Amino acid sequence: MWDDAGLGVDMGELRGTHVPVLLDRCLSLLGPALERADKEHTVHVDATLGLGGHAEAVLAAHPRTVLIGLDRDQEALAHARARLEPYASRTHLVHAVYDELPDVLERLGYERIDSALFDLGVSSLQLDAPDRGFAYAQDAPLDMRMDQSRGITAEEVVNTYGVPELTRVLRVYGEEKFAARIASAIARERAKAPITSSALLASLVRDAIPAAARRTGGHPAKRSFQALRIEVNGELAALESALPAAPDALAPGGRLVVMSYHSLEDRITKRALAERARSTGPVDLPVELPGSGPTLRLLTRGAELPSDDEVAANPRAASVRLRAAERIDEVGDQTSVGRAARERPRRRISPLRQPQQSKRDGGHASQEGDKQDKGEAT
Ligand SMILES: C[S@@+](CC[C@H](N)C(=O)[O-])C[C@H]1O[C@@H](n2cnc3c(N)ncnc32)[C@H](O)[C@@H]1O
Repeated sequence: MWDDAGLGVDMGELRGTHVPVLLDRCLSLLGPALERADKEHTVHVDATLGLGGHAEAVLAAHPRTVLIGLDRDQEALAHARARLEPYASRTHLVHAVYDELPDVLERLGYERIDSALFDLGVSSLQLDAPDRGFAYAQDAPLDMRMDQSRGITAEEVVNTYGVPELTRVLRVYGEEKFAARIASAIARERAKAPITSSALLASLVRDAIPAAARRTGGHPAKRSFQALRIEVNGELAALESALPAAPDALAPGGRLVVMSYHSLEDRITKRALAERARSTGPVDLPVELPGSGPTLRLLTRGAELPSDDEVAANPRAASVRLRAAERIDEVGDQTSVGRAARERPRRRISPLRQPQQSKRDGGHASQEGDKQDKGEAT
């Protein structure tokens, strides 16, 4: 699993193709939580490690910081492991979905963390891989799983979902106006033979969209591919669970930064942070009742957008929305982050069938990753 040599990792090439989004802004937001004079060391969670660009910059800037890096993609973890080798004595890299954060922290023996970063969505590694099926511009098997060891593939979604369900996926997750037409075209095609390639799907989608509409909004298959990726990876459900879990894990003064690339991701983030930034007590009382005060202070006014310079230097930043918050309440019960987060009821926003996820198929942060983590941990 961690056979970096077998993967032919070439970090020089990958560094060149991936520029961490809003890196300076992330560092300035996270910095105060990681440079605490009252702590011997601080703990940063990179919930979406990817190629490790943000993580490397955090480790370089904060020599007293321990990194816990999560990714559900084993290939990404292997690349990040190679990149972060100089910091191996203060990193734990774990194969996990980020809503497993409480379990990961419990197993690694950390009660609280000082900061967390979520840089959502897919990485350039995944998009550019010719065999993963994320890209409409390359022909590949229709996979689209970030974690290729479990869960349903895009091929299964495309060939087994009923037309109404497929229409909903395309409309809700892809904001695709022609969702019903595309779903019907898929159903007609798969009645002849299963749809197994990204090129075939891309051309079906293209043909299902009226010619006039094809001329605007980028590649006609872009929205449908995005929708399928979100469905296959249960992305919004994982975020819904993780955004209570991560603030719960923060120590007082701890900070959280979330970068979204999709309006639904940003909406979930906005709501999760706003809920905790206001009092839950009666409005007419002059003082807060115990436990009813806000637990977060928002560090951004609304969602921050990238500057023109950032987008010119890094086109992937074009759709980013950044939100950040700081934990402001005293954490009363210091016993276990894991227990607190597990006891919180989990809300699922999507009425759609979710693919088998880590929790459901009994998956855990990988045992193998764990063993290695324990070995490398300081
Ligand atoms: C945009 S990339 C992160 C890039 C990273 N910040 C960097 O500097 O290289 C997003 C990464 O998050 C991972 N990811 C997406 N959803 C995840 C989830 N629910 N749990 C864990 N990892 C996830 C993807 O596999 C991908 O590698």
